[in-house]
Amino acid sequence: MKIIAINGSPNGASGNTGQVLAALMEGARGAGADTEVFLLGELTVTPCRSCRVCQRLGTCVIDDDYPKIKAAMIEADGIVLASPNYIYNVSAQMKALLDRSFSMFHCQMLAGTYGAAVLTSGGPLYAQVEEYLMHVIGTIGCWKAGSLTVMESQLKDHGEKMQALREAADLGRRLAEAIGSRMRFPDQEADREQCFEMMRWLVEQERDNWPYEYEYWQKHWPGK
Ligand SMILES: Cc1cc2nc3c(=O)[nH]c(=O)nc-3n(C[C@H](O)[C@H](O)[C@H](O)COP(=O)(O)O)c2cc1C
Repeated sequence: MKIIAINGSPNGASGNTGQVLAALMEGARGAGADTEVFLLGELTVTPCRSCRVCQRLGTCVIDDDYPKIKAAMIEADGIVLASPNYIYNVSAQMKALLDRSFSMFHCQMLAGTYGAAVLTSGGPLYAQVEEYLMHVIGTIGCWKAGSLTVMESQLKDHGEKMQALREAADLGRRLAEAIGSRMRFPDQEADREQCFEMMRWLVEQERDNWPYEYEYWQKHWPGK
């Protein structure tokens, strides 16, 4: 079982997000997962140029580190999206990665896999960002195993930090266990079906403009 994480913080493994993510991945390894972390702060993933070549041909015209992250996302059984809260949103690094994954959303490429989110935040106004990350995880096709936000103040207090890291490890364990048991989440079924059908309808409408995506649907989700 492979779980990958994408850390959108420019502060890398030693930043707030990196510390929480490390605990989560340790929890996942304890439950039997192999893990790998992609640090966007050390990789190059530039913003989408909206050329739409991915929709027509299935490849990206930009020559950077995105293709190897995309390949790892497709191969993984579970994905963790981790980001700091930047002005009530994810970091620009994380947003660039999500935009570059545009066609993966249309094709529901991660349908049947599992996802979790980690957010760190300077202050308490983070709920909409955590919700956004989980929405993204759901709309790319993953079952949502859970999410966690840790505030910077918690990481500055030893006791609170240990508690937060325990919660992160627990989320990693739950993610791995959900994958291992092919868990289904009944409360997510209706939204998943609605999203899946919406993407199918969209790609069918645009079949002449988005031939790669249309062929992907024919191949991977026949009869749907
Ligand atoms: C450019 C920037 C924007 C930020 N915006 C917010 C914000 O809107 N709300 C908030 O609570 N914290 C904000 N913060 C604080 C970060 O969310 C917080 O320090 C986070 O834990 C940093 O994680 P890192 O060490 O992994 O980079 C911001 C920090 C930076 C550098």
